[in-house]
Amino acid sequence: MYDGRSDAAIFTFWDDGVDEKLTALVADARVRAAAAADATALETLRTEFLGRKGGKLSAVMAGLARMPAADRAQFGKDANEAKAAIEEALDGASARLDNAALAGTLERRYDVTLSAIPPRTGSLHPLRRTLEDIAAFFRMRGFAVIMGPEVETEFYAFEAMNIPKDHPAREGMDTFYLPPGTLLRPHTSPVQMRAMQTYPPPLAVIVPGKAYRRDALDASHSFMFHQVEGLHVDRGVTFAHLKGFAADLCRHLMGQDRSTRFRPSYFPFTEPSAEIDISCGVCNGVGCRVCKGSGWLEMGGCGMVHPNVLRLAGYDPEEYTGWAWGLGIERIAMLRHGIDDIRLFIENDPAFLEQFA
Ligand code: DAH
Repeated sequence: MYDGRSDAAIFTFWDDGVDEKLTALVADARVRAAAAADATALETLRTEFLGRKGGKLSAVMAGLARMPAADRAQFGKDANEAKAAIEEALDGASARLDNAALAGTLERRYDVTLSAIPPRTGSLHPLRRTLEDIAAFFRMRGFAVIMGPEVETEFYAFEAMNIPKDHPAREGMDTFYLPPGTLLRPHTSPVQMRAMQTYPPPLAVIVPGKAYRRDALDASHSFMFHQVEGLHVDRGVTFAHLKGFAADLCRHLMGQDRSTRFRPSYFPFTEPSAEIDISCGVCNGVGCRVCKGSGWLEMGGCGMVHPNVLRLAGYDPEEYTGWAWGLGIERIAMLRHGIDDIRLFIENDPAFLEQFA
């Protein structure tokens, strides 16, 4: 007789089979999802396992109808768990693929092993660099760096420098005159007098700054340029000190292998006066286009401070002597870097300036 027990026994067997099928289905889905190579493969798997019609889970669940009502609830629960497990496997695989794809694009876009693009930084202007080099030379030797006014009085620009009204040297410096008695200084020399009147001897200063002359702008002339003045006054300062300082400075700026020479010259504020030349670095003194065949390049003017200048400053020329010296920073920078046009210094073209970074 059919007692339900055997019925139950039969179903236990059948039910176990279904559970095994579900377990096997989940295991299979996990393995294949983990192996899926791309999203399309995953979609195919999703249909294969979970598709409503013809999906493997649906096929197993078709057995539900044949189950005794008492077991349906449990089976339905197991099937739902299996479905959730398969979905989880597929979703997990999908996330894995998404992550891999993202990592791929990131890797392509950002190679973290590449060195960083250096930020654009500013750099010192070549004139400033030359000036800093000159200043470093003198600071090391105990000189102070001082500045004076660019709008100067006619007195300091000329008379104080031993250049009286009718002196031809005034014509050599085509000056921008301002309201009566003032001008744009045509050289930095007037600061010599301002310094000496301010400080008692001994005095050792350099004076960098702008100077102005009514020159038409061309490759070698500018209405505004820079000079550095040097002045050393003390007891017992001689022309030999001047020669030593000048030769050392020239080599400091242009290279230790260069030679220097002094040519007699004339400046109203020095006596005796000289011009300092340095051997041409391009032809090594043989003569070339840069040195115009002479083998020498002019570095600046210098001399022993004129007694009239010392006296006007309140220094006793019987007790104190000094040397003075002046050079154009543009000219030195041009010689140092092989720059052939003075206008480049004020045009602010980054392509030019970046070369000195
Ligand atoms: N002041 C002169 C000029 O502008 C340069 C100069 C020459 C300065 C000789 C000096 C010096 O101190 O001693 O042309």
